[in-house]
Amino acid sequence: MTDFFFEELSEEIHKGVNKKGHPFRYITMATVGNGTVARLRTVVLRQVSKDLRLTIYTDSRTEKINHIKENNQISLLLYHPKKLLQLKIEGIAQLVTDTERLKQYWTGVQPSSRKDYITNQSPGSSINNPEQVEYIEDENYFAMIDIVPSKIEYLKLKRPNHIRVAFKKENSDWNGTFLVP
Ligand SMILES: Cc1cc2nc3c(=O)[nH]c(=O)nc-3n(C[C@H](O)[C@H](O)[C@H](O)COP(=O)(O)O)c2cc1C
Repeated sequence: MTDFFFEELSEEIHKGVNKKGHPFRYITMATVGNGTVARLRTVVLRQVSKDLRLTIYTDSRTEKINHIKENNQISLLLYHPKKLLQLKIEGIAQLVTDTERLKQYWTGVQPSSRKDYITNQSPGSSINNPEQVEYIEDENYFAMIDIVPSKIEYLKLKRPNHIRVAFKKENSDWNGTFLVP
C-alpha cells in the first residue's frame, strides 16, 4: 500500500534534476563529521540514478568533504512548497574517485560556473572584500559526491489525513511503514 508513495517520491526526486524550476533542485545537506552539531547547507541536486543514488558537485576543499571523510553518514532535506511534501533522506556519502567520471562532468560544467571550483584560496577563507577572490587557471578542485540513501521519510500535509511513511532499504528493496504524522 505504500508503493504508491514511494513511486511519487521517486518521480519528484527525478524531476528535481530534469524539470526546470522544480523545488528539489536545491536540497539541504547535513553532515556531522566528528562533531556534535549538524552542519547544514544548500546544494544543487545534479544527478539521480534509477536506484536513487543522488549526486552533487562541490569544491574538494570545503568543510563538507572533511566531514564526510570523518563520518560518511549524512542527511538530506527536500521540500516541495506547493505540494507540502517533505522528504528526509539518510544515507552514505561517497566521494567520487573515478577520474574518468570526474573529467566527463567537469567538461560539462558551464564556463561561468567553473569559478566555483578554481578559487586560489580555499572556500571559507577570510578576505577583505568579495572582489579580492583570485582564480587559478591550470587546475581545479571539482569534486562529486554520491549519496546512497538507506532511509527515506515521506511526509505530505493534506486534508483529511496527513500522510507520513518511513521507507527503509533492505537488500535492494524499499519497504514502507505508515507512521502517525
Ligand atoms: C542556491 C545555492 C546553491 C548552492 N549549491 C551548491 C552546490 O551545488 N555545491 C556546493 O558545494 N555548495 C553549494 N552552495 C553553497 C553551500 O550552501 C555552502 O555554503 C558551501 O558549499 C560551503 O559549505 P561547507 O563549508 O559546509 O562545505 C549553494 C548555495 C546556494 C545558496
